Amino acid sequence: METRAGDPGAFARFDLARVDSPAFVVDAAALRRNLGVLADVRDRAGIRLLAALKAFSMWRVAPLIGQHLDGVCTSGLWEARLAAEHYSGEIATYCAGYKAEDLPEICRVSDHVIFNSPGQIARFADVLAEARARGDRFDVGLRINPLHATGEVPRYDPCAPHSRLGFPIDQLREAHLAGVDGIHFHSLCEQDLEPLKRTWAALRPRLAPFFSRLQWLNFGGGHHITRADYQRDELVEFLQATRAETGCDIYLEPGEAVALDAGILVGTVLDVQHNGMPVAITDISATCHMPDVIEAPYRPAMLSERANDGSDPVRLGGPSCLAGDVIGDYRLPDGCAPGTRFAFLDQAHYSMVKTTTFNGVPLPSIWLWDSETDALECIRSFAYEDFRDRLS
Ligand SMILES: Cc1ncc(COP(=O)(O)O)c(C=O)c1O
Repeated sequence: METRAGDPGAFARFDLARVDSPAFVVDAAALRRNLGVLADVRDRAGIRLLAALKAFSMWRVAPLIGQHLDGVCTSGLWEARLAAEHYSGEIATYCAGYKAEDLPEICRVSDHVIFNSPGQIARFADVLAEARARGDRFDVGLRINPLHATGEVPRYDPCAPHSRLGFPIDQLREAHLAGVDGIHFHSLCEQDLEPLKRTWAALRPRLAPFFSRLQWLNFGGGHHITRADYQRDELVEFLQATRAETGCDIYLEPGEAVALDAGILVGTVLDVQHNGMPVAITDISATCHMPDVIEAPYRPAMLSERANDGSDPVRLGGPSCLAGDVIGDYRLPDGCAPGTRFAFLDQAHYSMVKTTTFNGVPLPSIWLWDSETDALECIRSFAYEDFRDRLS
């Protein structure tokens, strides 16, 4: 999978020696830029726009997100609780499978509680009624599966055959919408406007009979709206037209677009040897710190990587025991001697939220930099106890 992000932005002039290693460094100015772009689309289109916490939930910057967007979307009880404790605005919770014991708190803190099947809505009808009797106010949503694949990687395609995500649209009948206020779908991943339009064209005839009874439509995430070449004006037109046609409030809930190109992961070369090519061990682990490198898979862009000048690249990998803990082959800007610092671009989203301590590999610390003021603050660093306390 090719990543289409990787703009260094102000990180091109960031001195990597200012932070410890490994470390995530997030640029508040880059976040403000992304949030400004999203808020502008939201305002012009007259929609509601939520930030997906699953992609980026560095809650220290929650006030910044609250200043620009309408709230957040969450994936279950713990993200919903985090949202209620730290974020402002609406909370839309969707979970592929709720547990009865989690739902009362989810209903209390969420504005939208979105289910994966009409079966779950029916099974939890009593829990929902009790929550409302207690005074909780929330809408009920149903995630549908558009059955219209647009993704290049099946693992990231909720419309792949036999997908468990969303109720297949070809099974939707009026009876399934009893007590349902809104319809949700999420089927895009790092995509342009065209796949959204195609998905909507496939869905529209199926949903049209129900427009008048629905309050809102949530078009999920996967919209790469803050990428420089995204078709934002056309998106605004499309959203305005869809809103007018359906009479529904329209929600988008991007995650990646909120933090696109807003953070780097700084690492250090620990050792280098030769095995048919130069191979280096670093204190960044693909499996512990950037699992999408292996899962997607993709090759993260490196800050200031040297162009291919015919010299041997170095294969960079982590300190774990996993043979496949390999990040990729790179030409480092400052050579590859032990002690050399380097950084991978576009690591604010879907890396910080996915880190593990497999093999006891330390977690990267988290820094907040503001490239406009040059203020730099260590928000959190992790100790042995963080590893120990997760295990028993
Ligand atoms: C239901 C839902 N909403 C929103 C998102 C955010 O998507 P992205 O970060 O690609 O914009 C996801 C991502 O998987 C999702 O599953």
